[in-house]
Amino acid sequence: MSLLLQQDVGPAYQDLDEKSVLQRIQSLKKRLTEKLLILGHNYQQEAVIQFADQTGDSLKLARYAAATKDKEFIVFCGVHFMAETADILTSEFQKVILPDMRAGCPMAEMVSLEELAWAWESLSRVVPKGVVPITYINSAASLKAFVGDRGGSVCTSSNAHEILQWAFSKGEKVFFFPDEHLGRNTCYSLGIPFEDMLVWQRDKPLGGNSAEDVKRAKIFLWNGYCTVHQMFRPEHVKMWRKRDPDIKIIVHPECMFEVVQAADYYGSTEKIIKTVNETPRGTKWAIGTEINLVTRLQKQNPDKFITSLSPFQCLCATMYRIKPVYLLWALDNLAAGKVVNRIKVEEPTAGPARLALDRMFAISG
Ligand code: 13P
Ligand code: SF4
Repeated sequence: MSLLLQQDVGPAYQDLDEKSVLQRIQSLKKRLTEKLLILGHNYQQEAVIQFADQTGDSLKLARYAAATKDKEFIVFCGVHFMAETADILTSEFQKVILPDMRAGCPMAEMVSLEELAWAWESLSRVVPKGVVPITYINSAASLKAFVGDRGGSVCTSSNAHEILQWAFSKGEKVFFFPDEHLGRNTCYSLGIPFEDMLVWQRDKPLGGNSAEDVKRAKIFLWNGYCTVHQMFRPEHVKMWRKRDPDIKIIVHPECMFEVVQAADYYGSTEKIIKTVNETPRGTKWAIGTEINLVTRLQKQNPDKFITSLSPFQCLCATMYRIKPVYLLWALDNLAAGKVVNRIKVEEPTAGPARLALDRMFAISG
């Protein structure tokens, strides 16, 4: 991945005061309006997301990118895998830009193509057919292509249930990566018993499992996780319930099983937003997801009590890499006729990765 390719924007940008940065972004956005679409993931900081033409979770933004045919430049305020997905789903004349190349997703980095190919090969020796690979959208394009080539699909936090249901109807077993927790939480909701779920440790032959266990299991869960959502603990749920028995708890499905089970609701960032916004005034919420989204919900719902589930700062540091000054730098370059930080997925990866994404859209709409 090209995360280290971010060029230093220099003092001409770094020394600007925030007010003039925001004013300049606003006027560049106006100037480029015919050609420009800015997408913003729900975890983006306020100073950036205010410029997004469309906000949303991974699925909503992927759908929006796919449906946008007329904009030449798509500036993606989110993380690397989201910009790659947008590039795969858009046409050749469209250019996807990530304002800071260092905005990766640590979970997506927890599985490489080499590791996956090694795991798949050892799995295929024990189970020669009937395994359907499913990758969470938080993964590199090369993994999506691997899945596309082998009859599998991508899933997101909002359609994992439907996609896994489809996968089990298609094959006897499922290989799910890289988020162990999303996999376990979804399988549990589908009624799959724990003894049929095996954790796959990426650095061990057969994922650290015996051949007998592999033959018996229904799903293999890669042991990747989100560094932000793993910070929410069952003790936090207990603490809030003790402090206020009326409080409602909602968490993202990247949280560990015990947290999701103890919560009242769980779902994608878009579902969290909708659920909290639609409750009556006076409702109290402890939310287990990234802090920028929690803070935004607090501001948008002054008539409700809203807090983070964790007492610690659960910030996605890579999402936070997209600072207004980098957005300004990218737009300045576009206005000068120069495309910086283009995210381009080349063939032979793009075609099979698109296939895996198209399967997802065909299954979940
Ligand atoms: P959503 O698709 O729910 O927005 O999740 C993306 C993500 O990275 C959560 O950590
Ligand atoms: Fe990746 Fe977690 Fe950040 Fe989402 S919140 S982008 S899964 S590290």
